[in-house]
Formats: sequence, structure tokens, C-alpha cells
Amino acid sequence: MSINLKTLVEPLILRNGAVIQSRIAMAPMVVEGSTRDGVVSQQDIDYFQTRSNVAGLIITGAAVVNENGRGFNHQLSVSDDKHIKGLANLAKAIKGNGSKAILQIYHCGREAAVAYAALGEVIAPSAIDFPFLSYVPREMTSGEIDEIIKDFGHATKRAIMAGFDGIEIHGANHYLIQQFFSAYSNHRIDKWGGSLKNRMNFPLAVVEEVKSVVEEFAKKDFIIGYRFSPQEIHGENIGYSFEDVLQLVEEVIKRKVDYVHLSIFSNYDAQPSGTSESFGQLVKKQANGRCAVLIISNVFSAADAAKALAHGDIVAIGREALIEPEFALKIKENRINEIACEISKESFPGLALPEKLTEWYLSKNCVLPPLPGLDSLR
Ligand SMILES: Cc1cc2nc3c(=O)[nH]c(=O)nc-3n(C[C@H](O)[C@H](O)[C@H](O)COP(=O)(O)O)c2cc1C
Repeated sequence: MSINLKTLVEPLILRNGAVIQSRIAMAPMVVEGSTRDGVVSQQDIDYFQTRSNVAGLIITGAAVVNENGRGFNHQLSVSDDKHIKGLANLAKAIKGNGSKAILQIYHCGREAAVAYAALGEVIAPSAIDFPFLSYVPREMTSGEIDEIIKDFGHATKRAIMAGFDGIEIHGANHYLIQQFFSAYSNHRIDKWGGSLKNRMNFPLAVVEEVKSVVEEFAKKDFIIGYRFSPQEIHGENIGYSFEDVLQLVEEVIKRKVDYVHLSIFSNYDAQPSGTSESFGQLVKKQANGRCAVLIISNVFSAADAAKALAHGDIVAIGREALIEPEFALKIKENRINEIACEISKESFPGLALPEKLTEWYLSKNCVLPPLPGLDSLR
């Protein structure tokens, strides 16, 4: 086994003392398994139970902290105490083989299409007529901003009560937290907008709220992660540059999170233009050992994961976790040739993928990153 392959399945101690049993994480993925009001279903349980050996750190798909931030009909919710019971069963299923269970928490902001259909409006930092939306979001009042920050705290408390080992704040992929950080999406002139420093205020207020709930209610080794997209560029319009986000990441790390998680869709070794190092390597330099760095994208084999380890401390797998539910276990047991790198008719029945996820992937207008081998299911 190569050194990196061995390292992949060695334990890692996070900043707060939590021990994860491998350097492999399962990336957050909305899998449309829950009920319409976000309650955990048997499909969710089966999906995670099947994957309890996929990684040392298993992150759920995004769970909404307030129903006015819902983007998908059947995603998880953590917006109400009624969700705790199901989430407790989910955490138990994830932890069955010793992996850490992390609940990703988020608010969709302007992208909350499901909330728009239900409520007739969505909220966002600014009321901008975006070319890619069929509606104009309403600008949040300062009272609503305070409320949503508190909702992230309530969601964290529910995750603690449900027995999760940690939460991941979803600050990536153009959702509400990123919308506040983006100069393209945030035109506010109060303390929540304007300068780079002001645009950091919402993301950092969420981190601080989560942190204070964790300090008050959780065990010392409760994990806090923060996910971000390394840059936001819409043609001529720059939401923020990589240099900008490094300043935010610095402030997030100073508030003592346990890991930061890059959200990349191209490849784990993607680089900012004009540099010779990858986003992951540069974030690792910035973190300088103060917290772990999760890297992601296009890892479909043990060899890919070993290579990706040069760009982060922990390698996250998204689609590969849909295809191969025993990814980490097979590396640990030196069965790397048995790792599936595409979905097939034969493997499909054993994958426990929620029905709606399969429908979503097989639909003509699917916008998800492609799933290798999908054609075999058509
Ligand atoms: C079906 C699906 C759902 C996703 N849902 C989420 C999500 O809930 N939260 C999130 O941060 N990223 C989400 N993503 C992005 C993944 O976490 C990951 O960053 C992306 O798939 C690239 O990694 P991969 O090449 O290993 O698949 C989703 C991706 C897929 C394929």
C-alpha cells in the first residue's frame, strides 16, 4: 500500500480532540429521502446505514434551519423540535460502525424555490432581479437577519440533542451565507453589506452563534465545520475572489472551528488562476495546522483519494459515496480492486438510494454533476 493510501485510513485528531477513524469524509448530498416537511424517513435511515463504513466523517445533506429557506421538497429539516426524534435515529444509523455523524445546516436564501412556491416570496440580503431566477427575492429586514442567525443556533442545539457528533455550516454553493459574502448578491448599506469586512458579518455571526450554543450544550469534542466555495465569479461580475475568501476563512478559523471544507465541482487539484498551487494547498497554508482542511471533487478510486490527500487533510467523496458504500472499509482492508467506480444495474439494488434521488438523476433536465455508469440504469 502506498504511504498516502495507508495515511488515508489512519485516525486523525481534530482541534477539539475528536478522533475520526480515517481521513475520508462523505460529502453532504441532498438525497430527497425525507418527508415533505423534512422528517427523517426509513429511506434516509437505510441510505445512511448502508454507508456507515464509507468514511470516518459522514456529513448529511443540507438540512434547513427555517422552512423559509427550503430549496428541495424532500430534503432534511432541523427547523423544529419535531425533527429531533428522526434525526436521532439518523445519527444512530450513521454512527453504527464508529464514524462521526455531522449534520449540515443551511438556509437557501434567494434559491429557496420550494419556499417560494409555498409562501409566495423568498428572502435574501438584497432584492435583486437575478437573470437566473424567475422571481425577485425580498430584502431581509435586520430583525429577520437576527432571527435566521438564531435559527442556526437552534438547529445546532437540535443536532446536539439528536446525538450528532457535529454540525457543518453550509457557507457555500450560492446559498444564504454565501449570498451575504458576495458583493454581487449583497448590495446592503447597513452593517451587513458594503465593504468586505461588513459582508463577513453575517457568516461570522452564524459561526459565533453556533459556537456559543456548542459551548453551552455540547461535549468538548463536538465538531464544528464550515463549508465555503473558493471564489464566486459570474462572467464580468465578481462576487468575491479567492483572496477575499481567504480573509473570511482566517476569521472563521480564529473562531475555533474544527475544519474548513472547500466546495469544488471541477477537480480536487483545481487552482486559482495565475498560481502554481491548488485551492486546497493554499487553504492548508492559511490554516497552518489550526484546523483540518477537507478537499473534494472527482475522487472515484483509492488512487484518486491518495492523490487528493496532497491537497487537504481529509478527502471528501460525494458521488463516489453514492456508488461505493464501503469506500473506506475496502481501503482499510486492502481490497482496493473491489472499489466500484461507477454505478451498474447489478450494484444498484444494494445501494439503498432514495427513490426520488434516482428519479432526479434519471430525469432529462438533471443539473447534478454526472454519475458515472448512470446510462446502465436507463
Ligand atoms: C446529489 C447531490 C447533492 C448534493 N447536495 C449537497 C448539499 O446538500 N450540500 C453541499 O454542500 N453540497 C452538495 N452537493 C455537492 C457535493 O457535496 C460535492 O461537493 C460535489 O458533488 C463534488 O464532489 P464529487 O465530485 O465527489 O461528487 C451535492 C452533490 C450531489 C451530487
